[in-house]
Amino acid sequence: MSLAGDSGWGGRAEAAEDRFGPRNAGQVKARLLRLTEADLPEVLALERLVYSQPWTEGNFQGEFRRQITLALGLKRGGRLLAHCFFWLLPPEIHLLNLAVRPECRRLGLAWRLVTAMESIGRRAGARNIFLEVRPSNRAALSLYRSRGFQVAGRRPGYYGDGEDAVLMTLELIE
Ligand SMILES: CC(C)(COP(=O)(O)OP(=O)(O)OC[C@H]1O[C@@H](n2cnc3c(N)ncnc32)[C@H](O)[C@@H]1OP(=O)(O)O)[C@@H](O)C(=O)NCCC(=O)NCCS
Repeated sequence: MSLAGDSGWGGRAEAAEDRFGPRNAGQVKARLLRLTEADLPEVLALERLVYSQPWTEGNFQGEFRRQITLALGLKRGGRLLAHCFFWLLPPEIHLLNLAVRPECRRLGLAWRLVTAMESIGRRAGARNIFLEVRPSNRAALSLYRSRGFQVAGRRPGYYGDGEDAVLMTLELIE
């Protein structure tokens, strides 16, 4: 389903990315979509490619069926290049999962998804975004810092392998 036809929050969702952004943004023409359970096989394949401890099929099914979860994807030629899952719980958003195909990195795809999430959140009355990230994940930390996220705390032993999580937050300013 195209975002443009969904609740009216599609087309304008990406306006903010024109102001500033990654140096290689726009080099890949990908379509922003709202993902549904029909996309599950592609989402799972991408997840397994990207994460050493991927979400399971059941994890994704649960999120697709949860009212508060929004799943966004970027596709080119029908192929999923990136996905993003978040809880929309105004006044909060919780970013759950963000993944970009290894060969499509540093092209601004994650930036685009985060921009869309922020825009959707603002329109829904969200004021803050929260997320957890591994302290060892330099790429993600750099992405979130460049988007203005700040460290808000640490969650000891948060991940399945025992690694702590860094809690980051972004205040959504009008
Ligand atoms: C983290 C991740 C989502 C970034 O996706 P991406 O599409 O490559 O990121 P973008 O191209 O939008 O990058 C935007 C900016 O973030 C920063 N950034 C992204 N990747 C970076 C890296 N490897 N090293 C340093 N900075 C990086 C840069 O500031 C970049 O702008 P620039 O390219 O102009 O320098 C991707 O590397 C990924 O899927 N990693 C594995 C899964 C993961 O860690 N997800 C996040 C879990 S919290």
